Amino acid sequence: MKRFLWGASSSAFQTEGNNLASDWWHIPVGSGDGMIQEASGDADDSYHRFDEDIALLADAGLNAYRFSIEWGRIEPVRAQFSQAEIDHYLRVLDSCRHHGIEAVITLHHFTNPTWFTDQGGWLNDEAPKLFESYVRAVEPILADSAVHYVVTFNEPNQLASLIGLMDPENHEPFDPDRMPIPDRRAVSNLLAAHLRARSIIHECGDEAGWSLASPAFETPDGRPVADLSGEGKTYADRREGDFLRLSRDDDFIGVQAYTRHLVNGDGPLGIPSDARLTANGWEYYPHALATALQATAEIARIPILVTENGIATDDDDRRIDYMRDALDDAARAAESLEVPILGYLHWSLLDNYEWGSYAPHFGLVAVDRGNHFVRHPKKSLKWLGRHCLDCPSG
Ligand code: NOJ
Repeated sequence: MKRFLWGASSSAFQTEGNNLASDWWHIPVGSGDGMIQEASGDADDSYHRFDEDIALLADAGLNAYRFSIEWGRIEPVRAQFSQAEIDHYLRVLDSCRHHGIEAVITLHHFTNPTWFTDQGGWLNDEAPKLFESYVRAVEPILADSAVHYVVTFNEPNQLASLIGLMDPENHEPFDPDRMPIPDRRAVSNLLAAHLRARSIIHECGDEAGWSLASPAFETPDGRPVADLSGEGKTYADRREGDFLRLSRDDDFIGVQAYTRHLVNGDGPLGIPSDARLTANGWEYYPHALATALQATAEIARIPILVTENGIATDDDDRRIDYMRDALDDAARAAESLEVPILGYLHWSLLDNYEWGSYAPHFGLVAVDRGNHFVRHPKKSLKWLGRHCLDCPSG
């Protein structure tokens, strides 16, 4: 029987450091429109410290680690693949195996090689073919015995909405409350790339899916709105239903839920003025995971892996409260779902680079970036290790 996965998630650009060949590396830093507050720099230096990170996870009693492969490292120049970087990720997998950790691989977590973006990125109709060549190159990684689940794209639904952010001609300030509708061309190229990658993942003997920024839409009186794709729904998140439907032939789907979005028939309502907030200004709402599981199960109808769930906070007791409530509600919701839950991967193992700033702390482990990147495990890491919901010894 396969293990129930119980672990934590990360991504390459947010933790490795010095992803020089990736497009995000070149986003200007400053206070102007289209700029970010802080560059990623050395990040958590996980590129060199991965073994320590994986050991921390294993020592706490967790059994799975989701991390991503940085396409820009593997293919820094179009059609030139780096064997040294493929070997690097094989060493990460050796470390997982050594520590008894199941690796969940993400092939694409928001960042692209710079050359790819310069050539039109996901709006270029060549994109699926280009992505396929990259996935072919990393076959040895996918075929490794430490890997059984492969996420092709992290939040393609977000990615397709953020395409404009990567465009140097775009000076629109990024406003998360006014998420643009996903670009249709990007969606169709991402889907085509996903299908090509899925075939390769199957050839390597693994299960394939993608991870969605998952719908936790509720009306102001707390009623879940499962499917926003119906007639008369005007909100841009009609898209969520589309992405969920497109997932039906996958082996699993990744759910990533943090907070809820209040909606009525006309559109998003924003955060209520009396809501409790997290450190990055989202509504504190642990029940979002349960709502997202229900909506995902209802529409996608395939096994679910929770690939992200967490909270930005400097108060680790608050993180534990959030996890306890999210997991209790999720466990209750799971009892009435018609699809299995394959595991829970918390975001994130380490405090890391939150796309423009190091200020929000999502980690189960703090990193002293000013002092040799020393890792300081928080109480929440141990707590999670002890509270596996469905592990035989948990
Ligand atoms: C989703 C993204 O996949 C991840 O990169 C990000 O850090 C978390 N959400 C928190 O915002």
